Amino acid sequence: MIDIHCHVLYGVDDGAPDLSTSQAMIDHMAKTGVTDVIATPHYRHHMFSYPSQKIEEAYQRLREYAASVGVDLSIGCEYHVDHDIFDHLETGRVHTLADTSHVLTEYSYSDSLDRILSYTQELIMRGWKPIIAHAERCEVFQRKPRMVIEAADAGAGIQVNADSILGLDGRLVKKTSRKFLDLGIVDYIASDAHDMDERAGHMEQCYTFIRKKYGEDITHMLFEKNPGKIIARKRV
Ligand SMILES: [Fe+2]
Repeated sequence: MIDIHCHVLYGVDDGAPDLSTSQAMIDHMAKTGVTDVIATPHYRHHMFSYPSQKIEEAYQRLREYAASVGVDLSIGCEYHVDHDIFDHLETGRVHTLADTSHVLTEYSYSDSLDRILSYTQELIMRGWKPIIAHAERCEVFQRKPRMVIEAADAGAGIQVNADSILGLDGRLVKKTSRKFLDLGIVDYIASDAHDMDERAGHMEQCYTFIRKKYGEDITHMLFEKNPGKIIARKRV
């Protein structure tokens, strides 16, 4: 499996608080069949500053550890969308996913479809490939899951969290994420893991569930083939 969204870097956001937690998370990934991971620390104005130097230090240190247990670690960012996103991407203030043209974008719960579409279109026009992080958490898609087709048609990749599908984040995100799967609109399933406790991100259980319900081909596409296309283009 390839995980394109997780908060495994220690001390840089609300994810792993320290090196030992990061290492435990990496160990868990290795044990459960995750071979490639993109660490995606939050950038969110006034909330998560994306401290570049700390991120770089934690990344270099953890990358070595991950390699020693057979996990290939890359760097990225989960960008909570605001008007600075274009500038921050163009100047390299934040990492894209594995430093490719793929960008993990996060929207607020109550963001409108218009806002999501307009940022998606503008990012694409500027040469980026936006992916909507845990789209099942957006109110607009919870109300009408089919609306997500408009975002996909606009060119956004759709990422869903493993725990949402498993029902570990509440009834509504479960229902919405399952509807996305039935619509065949999901491109990536990721852990969005923050720790080893309540927000561990159950990739292995989700993989088993998807394989049972949707079969081998869909499972391969969601956990390996699609995220593998990002990893294949990585520049670091
Ligand atoms: Fe996240």
